[in-house]
Amino acid sequence: MFDLDFARSQFPAFSAPALKGWGFFENAGGSYACARTIAALNDVYTQMKVQPYHAHPAARRLGERMDESRVLWAGALGLEPDEVHFGPSTSQNAYVLERAFADLIGPGDEIVVTNQDHEANSGAWRRLAEARGAKLKEWRVEPQSGRLLLEHLAELLSPRVKLVTAPHCSNILGRENPVAEIVRLAHEAGALAVIDGVSWAPHAIPDVGALGADVYLFSLYKVFGVHQGLMAVRRPLFERLPNQGHFFNAGLNAKRLVPAGPDHAQVAAAGAVVDYIDDLAARHALRADSPRARAAGVSALWRAHETALLAPLLDWLARHPRARVLGSTEADARRAPTISLATERAPAELAAELAKRSIMAGAGHFYAYRLLEALGLDPERGVLRLSFVHYTSPAEVDSLMKALDAVL
Ligand SMILES: Cc1ncc(COP(=O)(O)O)c(C=O)c1O
Repeated sequence: MFDLDFARSQFPAFSAPALKGWGFFENAGGSYACARTIAALNDVYTQMKVQPYHAHPAARRLGERMDESRVLWAGALGLEPDEVHFGPSTSQNAYVLERAFADLIGPGDEIVVTNQDHEANSGAWRRLAEARGAKLKEWRVEPQSGRLLLEHLAELLSPRVKLVTAPHCSNILGRENPVAEIVRLAHEAGALAVIDGVSWAPHAIPDVGALGADVYLFSLYKVFGVHQGLMAVRRPLFERLPNQGHFFNAGLNAKRLVPAGPDHAQVAAAGAVVDYIDDLAARHALRADSPRARAAGVSALWRAHETALLAPLLDWLARHPRARVLGSTEADARRAPTISLATERAPAELAAELAKRSIMAGAGHFYAYRLLEALGLDPERGVLRLSFVHYTSPAEVDSLMKALDAVL
């Protein structure tokens, strides 16, 4: 049984006077930070806010913390530390990858993108195809359900396809895509696979090693951590990608794909979320002796709690006369608690009404512009999005339902 009180006690936001009484339902945009993250940042800013990796003790400590973040996340994700890169955000990481991939793509090649993705994992690859004279192929969602079907991907693949990009989960529809199968199909065709895990990682820390994607991207500020993008690049691909940093740094693994000067404090504090995951594993006496096993065990607890809260909410919304849930209304293990509603009243108005009732929610297209168009919706009008994570309580979901009933 998930110890919700313990989890909530690890988030200072729940005892902050400014947030008291508010139900937080815009977690897909960015989560609260756990106490471990805040303490780690505070520690860096007070104890070691110096330039890292020099000879004096504070510089050495800071450098060690930054290295340790890589080790911690590699353990949780089933990777090697040199496969983990921290950049300013997922959008920025994709932008740098777009440049790095330019050497790998040329005229006659093909790139597969989806219209389900957030623009971060779409625009970059569309621009790359155009710049390199490659053919762009769009793997389109079913217009009713918003689902991406594997058979449609299979039809697009051929030896000319060099790159397949897809989301692990849509930030609008909340359903997990079959990433391992997507990657397998891409690899069988001889293509690389780039997966955007931003919307899935907050709900289940992925086994990136096992999923097999050549690149896996997600944003730590949505996973209870610092505002950084984590980019996993598997070794064989990393070795093929040209250096994107200063020429004299070409031999430095951490700088090759992150041309931005690193935010030392945030990189140093990035690993604190893995400590929080370990705290949860210990609290629940999970018998798991590897970091990956602990991440998997804690993810299973998160998923069970989220699904138990999601089921009655989805059920109620599915029957509501003045709202339409986009995508699936089944609360199973592959459904993240991210719900988007097409509503009679303007979504922005509804979000403002909810705010009057102490509910934090968002309205808009959430940068999934192409998906809303594919679903026949006006992206400028957008949707009302409600999203929660493992620290959300049944009482908060109840108050959301009451507030929604009043405003819809
Ligand atoms: C699914 C998805 N991908 C990518 C991004 C972009 O992430 P970042 O804000 O770190 O650039 C977001 C942000 O909302 C997202 O939801």
